Order: sequence, then C-alpha cells, then structure tokens
Amino acid sequence: MKVIANWKMHGFKEDYLHWYKNLSKTADENLFDDLGIAPPFTLLDECKIHQSKIKLGAQNISHLPEGPVTGEISAAMIKNSGANFVILGHSERRELHTETEEVIKSKILEASNHNIHPVLCIGEPKEIYAAKKTEDFLYSQLQGSLNDLNNINLSIAYEPIWAIGTGDVAKPSDINKIHSIIKEICSREFDVKLENIIYGGSVNDQNSKEIFEQEHVNGALIGGASLDGHSFGRIANNFFEIHNG
Ligand code: PGA
Repeated sequence: MKVIANWKMHGFKEDYLHWYKNLSKTADENLFDDLGIAPPFTLLDECKIHQSKIKLGAQNISHLPEGPVTGEISAAMIKNSGANFVILGHSERRELHTETEEVIKSKILEASNHNIHPVLCIGEPKEIYAAKKTEDFLYSQLQGSLNDLNNINLSIAYEPIWAIGTGDVAKPSDINKIHSIIKEICSREFDVKLENIIYGGSVNDQNSKEIFEQEHVNGALIGGASLDGHSFGRIANNFFEIHNG
C-alpha cells in the first residue's frame, strides 16, 4: 500500500461504511490495491468485514509477544484481526508515549516475525529543520531502529514533525531530496529491503499531486485529510493519475 489513511484516534463503528461509500464514489475501486487504511484497533474487525482491495493496517503494536501486558495489543492479535501492515514509530507515539528507538526496533521485529509489513515513521522537529540538521537526525533515527536487524522488508514514512497537522507541508523538491538520502542510507547501512518510501505531513487534495510527481516519492501517509472519504478519494485520484495514467 502506498497511499495510507491514518485515522489516528478517530472513528466509530458506523463511520467506516460511510467513508468507504464516499471514497468509492470519488475514486476507481479497481485501483484500490495501492491504498491502505489504519483505523483504531476497535475498527479493525469492522473494516475487515467490509474489506475491499484496500489493505488493512494498525497504528501500533506492542514490542512484546502475548503475555501479562495489560492494555497492549500484540502483532499476532492484529494479524488475527486482518491487518497486514502496521505504522510504527509515529512521532505522536514517540512524544506522547516516549517510545525509544530500541522499543521501535523490537516492534519492527515483532511485526516482521508475524508477517506484518512495518511502515516506519521518521522525521525531524522544527528546530532541527531550522538548523539544517535534518539528515543527521534522520540518520540517527534509522540507526537506532534498524541497526542489527537482518533481512527486513519494510516501508518508511518521512514525516517532518513540523508538518504534521499544521498545514505547513514540506516543499516537494525537499521531500524528494530527503527521500533519496533515506534510500541511500538504507541501502548502504542496513540489511533491509525498502519497499516504499512515502511522505506524511499535511498532505491534502490540493498539494498531493506535486508531491506524488517527485521521483523518490512512492506514496503518502495522510492523517486529517484522510478522515473524509471524498477527500481521501481525491488524493488517491491524484496518485492514480501519476502512477496508473
Ligand atoms: P496529517 O497527519 O496528514 O494530519 O498532517 C499525518 C500523519 O501524522 O501521519
């Protein structure tokens, strides 16, 4: 999946079908193979029942296998609920739940061991961006969560923290440059197969076309603008226009 709806902590049971109907009115269902949705855990079953070609994912898993860990959800459990990818290391989890690189690395392993595709999020805060130290910052995030892993198939979402939910989208040419650097670091330093590299941070139907046109952008992770089926559909259409047109 290349264009992913990240619903974050939004959505109730009745919302998915409504969302899907609006999405299908706007975009061509035959092309939904490239789309993904990561609803809250509570809606995984609902999405699975009405599943189309859209890939189903979770927004997090525990770094531990099943056991006495109150309040957590394991990789095996989301697999059992029909998920085939998981978003890991999102900046909101790093900040609000103090997730460390070590913990994120364990989550990547857990996901991989259960045949769930990890979508690893990395991205710099505003002060690092302003100081032009983005590359070093991303390098250390990658180092912390991918070092020592072997033969891992994953995708990476580059999400500058200052762009998330702010309307302050990164410049498409900058995104392209950062993506090519991330690709280069991954192939040089780590034993991983980077399936896709996608961008996240204030993507919407107005700005997505120019982002999708960039050579090293394979897709997008979309929060706010993914909650409305029509809006997500318009973003999907921009993607299809460039990659299937
Ligand atoms: P946003 O969120 O599209 O609302 O900026 C993106 C994300 O956090 O994945």
